Amino acid sequence: MEAKPPSESRTTLTDLVLPSETNPLNNLFGGELLARMDRAASIAARRHSRRIVVTASVNHVAFNKAIPLGSVVTVEAAVSRAFKSSMEIFIDVWVEDRESGRRSKANEAIYTFVAVDETGTPIQIPPLEPETDLEKERFEAALRRKQLSLVLAGKMKPADATELKALFD
Ligand SMILES: CC(C)(COP(=O)(O)OP(=O)(O)OC[C@H]1O[C@@H](n2cnc3c(N)ncnc32)[C@H](O)[C@@H]1OP(=O)(O)O)[C@@H](O)C(=O)NCCC(=O)NCCS
Repeated sequence: MEAKPPSESRTTLTDLVLPSETNPLNNLFGGELLARMDRAASIAARRHSRRIVVTASVNHVAFNKAIPLGSVVTVEAAVSRAFKSSMEIFIDVWVEDRESGRRSKANEAIYTFVAVDETGTPIQIPPLEPETDLEKERFEAALRRKQLSLVLAGKMKPADATELKALFD
């Protein structure tokens, strides 16, 4: 299968924060942001694999900055590494300043999606070829994150997580 660059899967969703999507402090409700990120990541995974995709795990979420009511929020997702049937999707969340239009980074997250056939069985996907420095950095670290996720899910023995262990040696 031919390798694809992250730009082929890059997915951008821009939307407002409405009153029904906020918490009692009038900031975006965390579950609403998780859903928006899941949607963008799902489209990115589908664009890379051209298959049915399912969310396998949410590996990391950082709600670093509250996002106020009325904000224009952009969720940007792209495949950061493809394995056999699974893909890591890196998601950046930006908020746009009303007056200057300048975007600032509010949050980020990392999801794992798996490509499956019509029976739900995992299926082979094309490899990913990173191009930019940031894409290469995310690609390199993705294997360690996969191993950590599998260890935490009880699907890999810590002793087998060699790249992850190397971080501590
Ligand atoms: C995700 C799912 C397809 C994995 O099935 P499985 O029987 O565990 O299949 P495998 O063990 O062969 O794993 C498939 C791939 O997923 C990866 N994977 C499975 N669980 C993972 C986890 N917690 N973290 C990271 N990767 C994971 C495996 O490493 C493997 O990757 P690879 O093929 O690229 O090497 C299956 O668990 C599933 O269908 N889950 C429900 C998904 C769903 O409905 N999501 C929506 C939530 S409401």
